[in-house]
Amino acid sequence: MTVSADPISTPPARTPGGAIRMDGLVLRDETVARLRAEIDALGNPHVCLATVLVGDDKPSQVYVRSKHKKAAEAGMSSKHVELPATASQAEVEAAVRDLAEDPDVHGILVQLPLPNGLDEDAVLDLVPAEKDVDGLTIASMGRLMRGREGHIPCTPKGVMRLLDRYGIATSGQTAVVIGRSLLVGLPLSVLLARKGIDATVTLAHSRTKDLVAACRNADIIVGAAGIARLITAEHVKPGATLIDVGMSRTEAGIVGDIDFDAVESIAGAITPMPGGTGPMTIACLLENTLEAARMLGAVRR
Ligand code: GUN
Repeated sequence: MTVSADPISTPPARTPGGAIRMDGLVLRDETVARLRAEIDALGNPHVCLATVLVGDDKPSQVYVRSKHKKAAEAGMSSKHVELPATASQAEVEAAVRDLAEDPDVHGILVQLPLPNGLDEDAVLDLVPAEKDVDGLTIASMGRLMRGREGHIPCTPKGVMRLLDRYGIATSGQTAVVIGRSLLVGLPLSVLLARKGIDATVTLAHSRTKDLVAACRNADIIVGAAGIARLITAEHVKPGATLIDVGMSRTEAGIVGDIDFDAVESIAGAITPMPGGTGPMTIACLLENTLEAARMLGAVRR
């Protein structure tokens, strides 16, 4: 796997307090355009992302729709399977098995979380590693740990792209990742510590005793706990890079883990929320889908 982003074409925008604004929308659009050009150059082969959505969670429906829209912009086709919240384990498994066996489908994404009562692990176990564009199966996670070729979970990969794109140094730097989810915190802590990236990583979580002490000397802080405005001025060293992966629905609307207004004048670089890591998750999903088509031999390398 190479995590290298497109070159910076224009000077980065700044927040009112002077921090570099790490714009995920701009980088997503650059990535989609690059994928489109790559697919055009390959003669427009059939590359297909399939999504599975169980239940009628509105935000999940919105996410899935935007994944399909961006797939089309990148020159890929997509397929959507929707099941009611009352679907049985056997019905969900049958839908995923069909996609796993379908030679016209290259990437499979099962939107998480599944409704209560469904066994997520049993469903993910049916996704072949090559089609696991979410990077969440045991095989993909094992490949990541071993440094072998495989799909890397989209949000952590998107964070690495943002760091690269905005020239944020990682080697020898201290990074604190807050939140140990399989989707984000756990794989991201591994990516940040890997050879070539070389950060010294602390993985903090809900049982961390003194989060301020863990964060206040950090060069990079990633908020991935899903706790609204968890990171405030007292957590942040001047010049630190702040990455917000959190998303909480509050009375004030959707807010991230980072109190942007309180820290943007202290930080050296910061992701906005929305418009930071979210769009990069989709960009990396599409990158993984093209890579999946290559792994399956449907597209030449
Ligand atoms: N739900 C929220 N984010 C994600 C994601 O990246 N992948 C999947 N499958 N479900 C999600």
